[in-house]
Amino acid sequence: PGPADPLNLREFQAAAKSTVDPVYYDYLAGGAWDEVTLRDNEAAFGRLSLLPRVLRGHEKRELDVSLFGCPASSPVLISPTAFHRLVHPEGERATARAAAATGTIMVVSMAATVAVGDIAAAAREAAPEGGPALWFQLYLQPDREVTEALVARATAAGARALVVTVDSPVFGTHERDRRNGFLDLPAGMACENMRGLPGGEPDAVRPIAMSPRICWADVDWLRRSTSLPVLLKGVVHPEDARLALRHGVDGLVLSNHGGRQLDTVPATIDLLPDIVAAVGGRIPVILDGGVRRGTDVVKALALGASAVGIGRPVLWGLAVDGERGVRRVLDLLRDEVDTALALCGAASPRDLTPDLVRGRP
Ligand code: FNR
Repeated sequence: PGPADPLNLREFQAAAKSTVDPVYYDYLAGGAWDEVTLRDNEAAFGRLSLLPRVLRGHEKRELDVSLFGCPASSPVLISPTAFHRLVHPEGERATARAAAATGTIMVVSMAATVAVGDIAAAAREAAPEGGPALWFQLYLQPDREVTEALVARATAAGARALVVTVDSPVFGTHERDRRNGFLDLPAGMACENMRGLPGGEPDAVRPIAMSPRICWADVDWLRRSTSLPVLLKGVVHPEDARLALRHGVDGLVLSNHGGRQLDTVPATIDLLPDIVAAVGGRIPVILDGGVRRGTDVVKALALGASAVGIGRPVLWGLAVDGERGVRRVLDLLRDEVDTALALCGAASPRDLTPDLVRGRP
């Protein structure tokens, strides 16, 4: 990297802020209502300390993990975020190439501005051997025919898991966007996964429905209608984690949507111990929200997460330098995790235990 290149994820954010249209920057950076949860996601990591072990004698670290049969080069995956073409003309194609080139699992958003099949093709170009490690995020639609068509598209594109976001019965209120009058994608961009779905004109783009009617019976229906692993994203109450197990869910993404849905939900890292206890090791728990440093990753893994996701930092990388920027964000974080593991006396995420994490007085 050159002397002016960002050295860490927060510097990527600053660089993105100086290049992205301020209205779009607010859309990416902002949260719901008073943005209490948005701030707390990051702040909560800062309230935790790491207590390392010494003299354990590991020459090298092993960062690889495998999730639902997908090998990954680090325990950091790309959380689903909408509208990548807002910040880079290549949009999700560039993100997918960076993911494939670095061996990172990418969760494709239902609200992507490139169709999932085209994203998968871009990933395959970048890493023909391994094939794309793509998962598909969806909001269950009140019209099951529409959900079925989306799942069929994702499956045909080679998606290896479905991530159902359940924290959005209605849209969270983003006052920055209201103030800025940012209500819709600019001309020439659309949610391409929603184009040409059943019940509409062949070329029309159906709006994404967020429906308060969606319930566990819909999860049961999805569970029956696909053989892909089904994860729920946005479960934060331990009782819902237990219900998820009973409904045959394969994994959880512990997430408060990066502070963009219900404001004043606790930081995800503060919720992690209770969710891990509720799940009791039966299914993987992936955490996202506020992960910005290798030490954040290590804290989450030590407290029982199988992996973590990053949302905004990927968009900062994409905005600053397209595919290269995303690669750099992923590589920087991976290096930080490697160094933090070594400094904790750990050879792999498996060596991280809850006793390494202390609350600050
Ligand atoms: C999101 N997130 C999100 N989640 C989801 O399930 N579907 C989506 O389409 C989106 N879109 C989206 C857009 C933008 C701009 C942001 C910032 C976030 C939430 C995302 O998956 C993740 O939970 C958070 O971004 C994680 O927090 P950090 O890493 O951004 O702090």
